Amino acid sequence: MDIGVPYEQLEQAPVAATPQSVEKLISLGYTVRVERGAGALAHIPDDDYREAGAHLVDEEAAWGCQVVLTAHAPSNRELSLMRRGATLISRLDPARRPGLLENLRARDLTALAMDAVPRLSRAQAMDVLSSQANLAGYRAVIEAAAHLGRLFSGQVTAAGKFPPATVYVIGAGVAGLSAIGTACSLGAQVRGSDVRPEVADQVRSMGAQFVPLPSAQEVSSDGYAKEMSADQASAANALYAQQAAESDVVITTASIPGRRAPVLLDRSAIEAMRPGSVIIDMAAATGGNTKLTVPGQVVTTDGDVTIVGHTDLAGMLPAQATQLYGRNIVNLLGLITPHKDG
Ligand code: NAI
Repeated sequence: MDIGVPYEQLEQAPVAATPQSVEKLISLGYTVRVERGAGALAHIPDDDYREAGAHLVDEEAAWGCQVVLTAHAPSNRELSLMRRGATLISRLDPARRPGLLENLRARDLTALAMDAVPRLSRAQAMDVLSSQANLAGYRAVIEAAAHLGRLFSGQVTAAGKFPPATVYVIGAGVAGLSAIGTACSLGAQVRGSDVRPEVADQVRSMGAQFVPLPSAQEVSSDGYAKEMSADQASAANALYAQQAAESDVVITTASIPGRRAPVLLDRSAIEAMRPGSVIIDMAAATGGNTKLTVPGQVVTTDGDVTIVGHTDLAGMLPAQATQLYGRNIVNLLGLITPHKDG
């Protein structure tokens, strides 16, 4: 059986395979066909794939394999290059993209959504949301540091002293905890909140202060936040506004599976922030956690608050994003390859 790894015509990595993951796929018994240039954005030269045992092919041959691996949901044109009955393994965001599912069905394709892997310990090695969110949380802090016109750490020098920057992280899932850890390691004073009260210890263990919500939810049965009632949301948003006004950086990560991201900071909350403050909205791809976020763009408000709406922060770390994504896919294929213990 052959596996295709096409070149994805997007601005950012990851790619669905690295030379290391190609080697593993070959050892599982597959023939791997990598489109020329597929690894360019992740800085992986064609020769490295060739040395790993892949066949370098053109676009049609890569899309024409029995199994096709991609990092991003294919366009209609790309899907039309797949053969009927083939299998696509990709990040598909199926709950929000009924049109894509219809298209896959119409072409008789089997699709495995890497971003729909259940959040269970058993499935952790395949969990793309976790592997990428961890990177995205790190990158969110690096972006904040680049846009904030001051140091994260406090300093005492002969020429004067200044306190550490204050960072407030809303939503302490995988991305939020990673952001908290990174901001703490840069020397900032970090606070974090989450609608799920059970994460308080995790926030503290990363070195931050946990700021509880006025109306926290019950400990969740499935590990996920539920949508808040209007009263709960407005009490929480008042707290976020107050914390944001005291912070140099706010990083928002709140999402509800399959739904639009909740708005946590409205216009007045952003207007109350200090000039020069920075918001990194990690939910920009699903609508954004602030009223003024523009997905994919960096905007500065009249009050001089910068709002960063990058939609693929993990993709801005292409080497590791590709390494982890490729490994997540190998781990999945290992489990579904019949004569290799699948
Ligand atoms: P997520 O990306 O779905 O959401 C981010 C965080 O925002 C969550 O902690 C959520 O509670 C919080 N949030 C949502 N709405 C909010 C609001 N209005 N105000 C404040 N916070 C809000 O979260 P992620 O990273 O997917 O993690 C969700 C849960 O799944 C966690 O308990 C995590 O530990 C668990 N998990 C388990 C895995 C496994 O066992 N393999 C893998 C990954 C996550």
